[in-house]
Amino acid sequence: MASKPKENLKETSLVHNRPMTMEQMAKRFKIDLSVWEVERLITNMWENVSKDEQRDLIFEAGRIDGKVKTGGVIVTPMWQTKVWWVRIKPVALSPMLYPVDVSLFNYPISKSPIRQGESPQILVIPDLHAGYVRVNGKLVSMHDKKAVNIIRKISKMWSFTHIIFLGDLLDFAEWSTHFPTPNGLVDTTQKSLVEVAAFIAELRANHPNAEMVYLQGNHEIRMESILIKQVPAAYGLKRIGELEGFPALSIPGLLQLSDLDVQWIGDYPSGEYWIGGDELRFIHGSIARKAGLTSAHYVNTQDYSTIFGHIHRIEKATGTVWAGTGRREIFAASPGCLCKVDDSGVVPGRNLRNNWQQGAMVLSKQSSKSPWIPEQINIINGVGYFRGDIIPG
Ligand SMILES: [Fe+2]
Ligand SMILES: [Fe+2]
Repeated sequence: MASKPKENLKETSLVHNRPMTMEQMAKRFKIDLSVWEVERLITNMWENVSKDEQRDLIFEAGRIDGKVKTGGVIVTPMWQTKVWWVRIKPVALSPMLYPVDVSLFNYPISKSPIRQGESPQILVIPDLHAGYVRVNGKLVSMHDKKAVNIIRKISKMWSFTHIIFLGDLLDFAEWSTHFPTPNGLVDTTQKSLVEVAAFIAELRANHPNAEMVYLQGNHEIRMESILIKQVPAAYGLKRIGELEGFPALSIPGLLQLSDLDVQWIGDYPSGEYWIGGDELRFIHGSIARKAGLTSAHYVNTQDYSTIFGHIHRIEKATGTVWAGTGRREIFAASPGCLCKVDDSGVVPGRNLRNNWQQGAMVLSKQSSKSPWIPEQINIINGVGYFRGDIIPG
C-alpha cells in the first residue's frame, strides 16, 4: 500500500486479491472525493503460485502422527490497483514559477559562421505553439524543442534582414475559452513566456539590425478574449511608467517586445505586414481548407503574394496576374509549423495523426529588381534540411 501526495496530484497503489474500485481506493487511502478526482486508474493482475499441501496431523505426548498429502499447486490471482488523483480545485503552489529549462539553449553550433549576404533575406517562423501540459505530474511541451533548435542554428548560419513570427508562437492553452481549463494546464503560462522571450532575445542577439515582427495569431488573442469576457477591468491596463506602451496583461507587454525592438501586429485576423510596398504580405491566417486548398484560395482570390501560417501544413500555390499585356507571378505559401506533429504531441484540440508538417521559410531577393524567392526549410523527424545543410535538432 503506498500513497505519494504531490501538491495538486496524488498517486495511490494497492496490492490485493481483487481489483479495487475508485471508491474503495478513496476509502482505503482516506481521499476526500469532494476535493480529489481520478485522473487515471489502472489495474495489473499476476498469478501467485503456492504448493498445494493438506495436513492431517495429531500431536500427542511429543509425538506427531498422521498424514501429509501434497501434489499440484494453488494459483491465486493478485491485483495491483493504481490511481492517480488530481485536486478538483488546484491550490496555488509556492513558489508559483517552475524552473526554466535552460538546457534547451545549450547546444553546440555545428558549423558555418554567419554567411553575410547583401540582399534582403527574411526568416519566417510559423506556429510554434509554445506551451506545456502536465501529464502524470510531468510537464510536457507542445512545441518541438528539436524544431526550435534547428531554427536557432539556421539563425546562426545565415544573416537575415527580417525575422517574422507568423503567429501562434504561444499556445496559451491555459487561457482558452473554448473549454474549461483542465488541471494539467494550470500554472503553465509563465514557463512558456520565459522560453519564448529567450528564443526571441537570442534571434535578436544574432541579428541586431534585423526588422523583427510578431503577428498575433488566434492563440495569442486568447488572453484578450478572456479578459474582455471575464475581467474587463483588467483589459488594457498599463504600468504607470509605460502609459504609451503596451498593456501590462498583453502578449507584447509580458514579453516586453519593445525592449527587443520587435514590432507587434495585433488586430487578428485582419492584422498583416507588408514588405516591398505591395510585393509580399504576411498574415497568420484564419482559414484552413483541405490539403493544398488554402494556398490555392489565396492565389485565386488575390493579386499579390501571401505568406501565411495557421494551417500547420507545408503548402505553396503559384499564379500569374495579368495587367493588360504585363504579367506578374505571385504565390501563396505556408511554411508548416514548429509544434509537435507526431503521435506524442499534446497540443490541445489536435487529433492524433493530423495532416501537419514541420518547417519554416526563408524568402530572399538577389537585387532590388529581382523577385522574392521563397525557400522551404523542411524539418523531418527532428532534422532540418535547408540549402544543402543537414541540421540536427
Ligand atoms: Fe492559428
Ligand atoms: Fe496554429
